[in-house]
Amino acid sequence: MTGAVHDQAEVEAIAAELAATLPPHAVLWLEGPLGAGKTTFARAFVAARGGGDAAHSPTYGLLHRYRGTRGEIVHLDCYRLRDPEEAAAIDWESALAADALLIEWPDRAGAWAPSPLVRVSLDHQDEATRTVTVQR
Ligand SMILES: Nc1ncnc2c1ncn2[C@@H]1O[C@H](COP(=O)(O)OP(=O)(O)O)[C@@H](O)[C@H]1O
Ligand SMILES: [Mg+2]
Repeated sequence: MTGAVHDQAEVEAIAAELAATLPPHAVLWLEGPLGAGKTTFARAFVAARGGGDAAHSPTYGLLHRYRGTRGEIVHLDCYRLRDPEEAAAIDWESALAADALLIEWPDRAGAWAPSPLVRVSLDHQDEATRTVTVQR
């Protein structure tokens, strides 16, 4: 589906709906330019799954682990990868073992990024309006 959403709460509602309905081990790609709302989406997804603060992670800033009611949620932000080969250092096996794996900037991980069950694309229209596309 593609549509315009008019505020952050609407994006958070889409994230919560996906969090409630996706099967175990779902991989989500979060795409779109800086400030579009990818991290906002990821936080709402984690919150909807009852996830609290991020557990300590050795790859601080890149990989965050949360304990949700259904199991672990991993949020991976590939923004800072300068070359896809840097993604070789990511523990993909444990990330894929999580109940949900959300990947921001998956293109920066190149062929390392596991295929998504769902692709969420966000783009700016104005201050609070975003175009949201959810592809399954
Ligand atoms: N409709 C909206 N959906 C998502 N974020 C929004 C929306 N309207 C305003 N915002 C704001 O835009 C910013 C998005 O930032 P962030 O989620 O970090 O983006 P990204 O991770 O894509 O770079 C946040 O400050 C958020 O409050
Ligand atoms: Mg972000």
